[in-house]
Amino acid sequence: MNLKTYVPLLLVVICAVTVRAQEPAPTPKINLMPIPASVKFHNERLAVDSNFKVATRGHSDARLQAGIWRFVKRLEGRTVLTLAPTLAADDQMTQLIIHCQGPGQNIPNLRENESYRIDITRRQAILSAPTVVGALRGLETLLQLLDADREGYFFPGVQIDDQPRFPWRGLLIDVARHFQTMEVLKRNLDAMAAVKLNVLHWHLTEDQGFRVESKKFPKLHQLGSDGNFYTQEQVKEIIAYARERGIRVMPEFDIPGHSTSWLVGHPELGSAPGPYTIERRPGIFEPALDPTREEVYKFLETFLGEMAALFPDDYLHIGGDENEGKQWDRNPAIQDYMKKKGIKDNHALQAYFNTRLLKILQKHGKKMIGWDEILQPELPKDVVIHSWRGTKALAEAAQKGYDGILSNGYYIDLIQPASHHYVSDPLPADSTLTPEEAKHVLGGEATMWAEWVTPETIDSRIWPRTAVIAERLWSPRNVTDIPDMYRRLAVISLQLEELGLTHKKNQEMMLRRLVRHDDVGPLRTLVSIIEPVKEYRRYQQRPQTMLSPLTGVVDAATPDSEAARKFAWMVKEFLDDAPRYQLYRSELSHMLADWQTSGASLEPMIDRSPALKEIKPLAHNLSHLGETGLEAISYLKLGMPPPREWRDTSLAKLEEAAKPYGALEFVVIGSMKQLVNAAADMGRR
Ligand code: ACM
Repeated sequence: MNLKTYVPLLLVVICAVTVRAQEPAPTPKINLMPIPASVKFHNERLAVDSNFKVATRGHSDARLQAGIWRFVKRLEGRTVLTLAPTLAADDQMTQLIIHCQGPGQNIPNLRENESYRIDITRRQAILSAPTVVGALRGLETLLQLLDADREGYFFPGVQIDDQPRFPWRGLLIDVARHFQTMEVLKRNLDAMAAVKLNVLHWHLTEDQGFRVESKKFPKLHQLGSDGNFYTQEQVKEIIAYARERGIRVMPEFDIPGHSTSWLVGHPELGSAPGPYTIERRPGIFEPALDPTREEVYKFLETFLGEMAALFPDDYLHIGGDENEGKQWDRNPAIQDYMKKKGIKDNHALQAYFNTRLLKILQKHGKKMIGWDEILQPELPKDVVIHSWRGTKALAEAAQKGYDGILSNGYYIDLIQPASHHYVSDPLPADSTLTPEEAKHVLGGEATMWAEWVTPETIDSRIWPRTAVIAERLWSPRNVTDIPDMYRRLAVISLQLEELGLTHKKNQEMMLRRLVRHDDVGPLRTLVSIIEPVKEYRRYQQRPQTMLSPLTGVVDAATPDSEAARKFAWMVKEFLDDAPRYQLYRSELSHMLADWQTSGASLEPMIDRSPALKEIKPLAHNLSHLGETGLEAISYLKLGMPPPREWRDTSLAKLEEAAKPYGALEFVVIGSMKQLVNAAADMGRR
């Protein structure tokens, strides 16, 4: 993910802006995310009141009972009803019957049958599933189906037949660059289950931290983690928590590059003598394991053996990305070795390393997965390719017979809108893969790289956007309506809060801390229409290290501004309503007036809180945006062309407002330009 610096920024900016003009369809209907494979509504409804009882028929076990318990608690939490505490024995007295055929896979794996069926009539809801995990998926759908009106809470009459499009639907959490607590992991596992994701990809080691206890080589975590690591007991706790929710836990130990933190305690593994210290900067670094020394393989054999026993998942991710081999180039012993063995370049040397690793993993019963870079002709076909570079790389791997998963397009650390991620498909409609080849495409993973997230902010970078990636990986390919996606996402986002996710609520707390006051109104207004700059520009504009506080306005601001989308929508409707210019006029005027006054009110707040100084130009520009917008609306309303120079002065103000400050940028500039040009064009017609 540190390719970061090379990504063509312009392209990304364009992508980010193009999605702004769309907005929710007005009629609320199906609020499910992901959308099931088949849904048929009918007119009946099943009331949910304090008589609501659940029962299981067929297979039941502790995992299913715990899932039902959580379901009932969430239903109670939402409805404020006290539901029947015991499971009912009598079918006639039962509102929800769960028919589960069997336990399914003992340890969650790719072969799990996650399908389920829901039938809701006015008398009863029946959830049937071949496995416990299928039943758990169905319970999440039921919770999303819950609706209410003045008669009370109810489940709509519906028949749902559902199963995932892809078996591998993951979320990578990088706990190495910034350590994340057990609580963060657990609440995110709950959220993953809520949107039917089934793999936690645990990125445990990096240049910036080694986060898992090794009993065999304790110097790894003792010297490589600042004391922030998971004990093996905690690892087991997370694995058990995930299993309860039908989620696999796949560890990643990124080697041979991205490995500085290993070398702090074990410099002898490195390709240069050291000493090494934990890396504090973001980026790509030189340290790499030495692939030419037998001791390194002996070490890996022991370490990976220990980890293979700790993590029950079939797969172990070895990273393999972004090793530039600079230490290898400078090490004469490595160069000699390559000559002697006829290894022609660093790629071949890494392929040699991977082949040795593969043997170690096979010995410990693990399948190997790694990032694109590991794909080399010598690699056997049972290695899985994790593509961060694109669907093309994934398709090429599939054609060669390799299984693969996609993460390109799902880099949620890059602050792109949900719509950007939503259109990325592991198997796009124009794919030329044969059905046989297409079977190699197993799914994908959202990647939460953690340069700029702490336990306080990480949820706001993962959620709610990851729910749309979950939908892309679960739902049929033709589920692509972006306005409807946003409408449903707003509903799901609120439901995620009931699981303890902090993606919404922490923002207010952070704003209060910045303002040093309860009244954050003007700052909230500003933050509602700015976003952190996208891609890798944050570090360029506002350099920090892994030890810096992530408590600034840029951290409180979130991706994918809902207010900006709403503004864009209203501007479009307003301008389409020419020559009346009536539609949404009062809403727009209200919004713009708020910008204007908030900009002014922010100035004394900034003077009281030096931490806000970096946004002073944004406050100033917020006023200008409000003022310019109000002028445009007023000209349009009166049908009065503005003075000739008005367009140029207004556009110049927008140019100024388009500049980022504090690694933050306004995301309403495009719509503002439309307003200004529409007003200025009146004189030309
Ligand atoms: C990666 O982003 N280097 C996997």
